[in-house]
Amino acid sequence: MKRILTGIQSSGRPHLGNIMGAILPAIQLSQNKDHECFFFIADLHSLTTIKDGSIRKENIIATAAAWLSFNFDTNTNFFYRQSHVSEVCELMWYLNCFMPYQRLQLAHSFKDKSSKLSDINNGLFSYPVLMAADILLYDANAVPVGKDQQQHLEITRRIATTFNHQYGEVLVVPDAMINEKVMVIPGTDGNKMSKSYGNTIDIFAPEKQLKKQINSIITDSTPLEDPKNAENDITFQLYSTIASSEDTTLLKEKYLGGNYGYGHAKKELLGLILEKFSEPRKRFDHYSSNPNELEIELKKGEEKARIEASKVLKRVRTVLGFE
Ligand code: ADP
Ligand code: TRP
Repeated sequence: MKRILTGIQSSGRPHLGNIMGAILPAIQLSQNKDHECFFFIADLHSLTTIKDGSIRKENIIATAAAWLSFNFDTNTNFFYRQSHVSEVCELMWYLNCFMPYQRLQLAHSFKDKSSKLSDINNGLFSYPVLMAADILLYDANAVPVGKDQQQHLEITRRIATTFNHQYGEVLVVPDAMINEKVMVIPGTDGNKMSKSYGNTIDIFAPEKQLKKQINSIITDSTPLEDPKNAENDITFQLYSTIASSEDTTLLKEKYLGGNYGYGHAKKELLGLILEKFSEPRKRFDHYSSNPNELEIELKKGEEKARIEASKVLKRVRTVLGFE
């Protein structure tokens, strides 16, 4: 059995980019019988940037509802909030003492964030060590992540290797699973879709709001009657990441044929999202208005996860002379 582990920060509502780039591919991995999956909400990591507790709570609910709306099987896998298995904080401290300070100074996500944010706290600096603890606490074999997280995985592997070098095979050294095929989904402004750029498409939003987001997608000014270049158009790019290849070809022909405006394409994109995600939208609404059901699922996952976490922690505490 291979252990697959990944987390998504609860720093906003999951958008189309998160769903196509992370949630759906992860759920697909979990459907393989040889995989045992640990998918969690990285709520402790979100504290590096979000300080408002009620906002965090809303984001946790939305993130959990998103995973469950796509039918992640919580019985055969592990689904939990990072903060509710607080053993991770203990492991983080141990790992901190094996992490060379200079190496963390070179981490590009820290350099990047500290050049953009005004609150440059220590949590932001030690972010990769908490991430290493997330992974090593559960003996994960493989970690599916976007390319932006590759360096964090290298740091994790390095801490584990250094630790094992001194104490024997105590920690499992994980492999990164970078899916090169998953494209970066563009946002409404053409940049990478991201919670931090305010350019997202929220497939779980009420129809009116979703329509507004789709209508805000930027386009060029080719007149309605002229043929249009589909590949360069954001609406077309978004449509093609969700639609079947037949429907994508049909839409491309409409672009090329002329007398077809971007407004028409946006209508088709809205229709497709409402149709394709109709069931997940219903489930998302159900969970959002019944957070007690989410709580039951998460508690169940947290109890199971804690059992696994304590085994690893015991190994670590023993070699370190705490037991
Ligand atoms: P955001 O940029 O919205 O804050 P995160 O950094 O929290 O997103 O990413 C969570 C997961 O979603 C990661 O695995 C990341 O690779 C994936 N992801 C985020 N944005 C996109 C996107 N625009 N296209 C594809 N995948 C994405
Ligand atoms: N840092 C990841 C991100 O921003 C989220 C994350 C936290 C994570 N801990 C993890 C991903 C452990 C994989 C494994 O996307």
